[in-house]
Amino acid sequence: MALKSLYKKFFALAYDIFMFPLEELGLKKLRQKVIKLIKGETILELGVGTGLNVFAYPDGIKIIGIEPKVEMIERAIKKTKKFKKNVAIIRADAEMLPFKDEKFDTVFATFVFCEVKNPEKGFAEIIRVLKPGGRLVLLEHVRPDGKILSKIFDFGNKITSILGENINRKTVEIALEAGLEIERVEKTYDGVVKLIIGTKPDKIHHL
Ligand SMILES: C[S@@+](CC[C@H](N)C(=O)[O-])C[C@H]1O[C@@H](n2cnc3c(N)ncnc32)[C@H](O)[C@@H]1O
Repeated sequence: MALKSLYKKFFALAYDIFMFPLEELGLKKLRQKVIKLIKGETILELGVGTGLNVFAYPDGIKIIGIEPKVEMIERAIKKTKKFKKNVAIIRADAEMLPFKDEKFDTVFATFVFCEVKNPEKGFAEIIRVLKPGGRLVLLEHVRPDGKILSKIFDFGNKITSILGENINRKTVEIALEAGLEIERVEKTYDGVVKLIIGTKPDKIHHL
């Protein structure tokens, strides 16, 4: 048991170490862009992880974050203290959010939907907890559009899927099917990473 917990702690530390160069090479800027797209005062971040977005959280607004892994939450809490941000992090799953309907003005997530086991369920929950007119902002690595790159990703996904990571999700399509309106999709890194901005319409029409 102790060994398992040690491994999980090491994994959370390794995640920060692995991400560090990527953050410095451009991810930090993308994260700031995501946070600037937040609107309103009731904000939810899904899959906070080790808290790599925390540095960019706006001052003066309380952010509620959810994350299923305790060891990731521990690291995230340290960052909220370091950056003096007003954050509540709850251990929870995006597929079953512990919030009442229509609570949030904005829901956002970065690099989470590749790991959510049932993304359709996750999107149904996002729609449930968003206010009508509320905003969804996602930064996700998805299946790229290009013919060659998409084939490379199809192959790579066979390997990453074994580790529970689907790098090939058609996240925009899943969001549309769930009934969200997509305002804008911005491609970065050759379309491997997409910034997706959506709105919950007043009436949901499933595709
Ligand atoms: C690749 S990490 C990204 C972490 C962080 N958002 C970031 O940008 O660095 C994916 C995170 O999603 C979390 N996650 C996986 N499945 C989830 C679910 N069903 N609901 C919420 N979070 C989930 C994982 O625990 C992990 O912290």
